[in-house]
Amino acid sequence: MDAITVIRTKRDRGELTDAQIDWVIDAYTRGDVADEQMSALAMAILLNGMNLREISRWTDAMIRSGERMDFSSLPQPTADKHSTGGVGDKITLPLAPLVAACGASVPQLSGRGLGHTGGTLDKLESIPGWRALLSNDEMMQTLRDCGAVVCAAGDGLAPADKKLYALRDVTGTVEAIPLIASSIMSKKIAEGTGALVLDVKVGTGAFMKNLDDARELARTMVGLGKAAGVETRALLTDMSTPLGLTAGNALEVRESVEVLAGGGPADVVELTLALAREMLAAAGIHGKDPADALRDGSAMDHWRRMISAQGGDPDAPLPVAREQYVVTASSSGVLTGLDAYAVGVCAWRLGAGRARKEDPVQAGAGVEIHAKPGATVTAGQPLLTLHTDTPERYGYALEALAGAVTVAPAGTPFTSTPIVLDRIV
Ligand code: URA
Repeated sequence: MDAITVIRTKRDRGELTDAQIDWVIDAYTRGDVADEQMSALAMAILLNGMNLREISRWTDAMIRSGERMDFSSLPQPTADKHSTGGVGDKITLPLAPLVAACGASVPQLSGRGLGHTGGTLDKLESIPGWRALLSNDEMMQTLRDCGAVVCAAGDGLAPADKKLYALRDVTGTVEAIPLIASSIMSKKIAEGTGALVLDVKVGTGAFMKNLDDARELARTMVGLGKAAGVETRALLTDMSTPLGLTAGNALEVRESVEVLAGGGPADVVELTLALAREMLAAAGIHGKDPADALRDGSAMDHWRRMISAQGGDPDAPLPVAREQYVVTASSSGVLTGLDAYAVGVCAWRLGAGRARKEDPVQAGAGVEIHAKPGATVTAGQPLLTLHTDTPERYGYALEALAGAVTVAPAGTPFTSTPIVLDRIV
């Protein structure tokens, strides 16, 4: 078997055999297939697709590239959530302790920023002292003690995906349904969660730009999960405008803590509660209202324990970027659009995301949003504040915002898009 034949097969719209898939994933994991060969194959898959057999085999080969975890010794049922990635998507931060407070164990193995979308680990690392890397024993102990753990997948878990995920980020090969579905589901199945809720984002800020593609991705992932014995369901949720009022690492931690304290932006609260209800139902936990756990402080208690268990100081001041720049409304009227993708790219360029896989991210960088679609705005009023430690990037970051803000004349009717657009079970 050789990489060039496998690449040519997919380049020429052929089907990869099970043996080809097993070989290429194994050889790539061991370093016998080079990054440039895997990027060519990923691009051929992005352009020419894969059928369900190929996706299922690719997922299975990625699971077999590493170890599988086992949570069967935990007293509570396990439930996990995975988002396909969005702008301002900080939901894991309030959600994991919230669901733990309602009686599930939440093993939330998370990732770093990919393209213009933020990463949960990058966000949490802005908390002084917090460690993303835990041994399997530390992870199990945190789960037992705190009910939830958010950490990096260990090197042993789907190592093929770890390499491929970082490679796709820098080779324009993220937005492919077979690659996204197999990437997410290989990690989640190998992780060993009993229940899984997928938050499949739809809109300009998501990898899936329209509902049909998002439904196909959701159905593919739900099918892969169920076939592997994981109680899997998906919500399709809006990502045409950023979630909440912040996009950036420390900025999003601050907003998540507001939600845990019983406040926070309405859309973040609504989605957190919708996902929590799905996770609890999928885990077989009934009769608990997660809204109560936000009100009575038990979700906040779980958050504080979870952050402390991983070396973080939940009371430490969060990093703040050195420079701020305010973008104002150029006219008065109704704000009818604030484009999620543009805001995501802007935050990324300000330093919240990375251009190369080895780049660091800036903890304080990002975009603060002062008005969301539906708001009445007046010319000159602040719409966004851009935060960065590298103000020389302002010009480049501002370019991303061209056409991102739409203000219609006062009195123009505005219909807001619901957060949850569909549900696939
Ligand atoms: N999240 C993942 O884990 N993988 C992808 O490919 C995209 C989003």
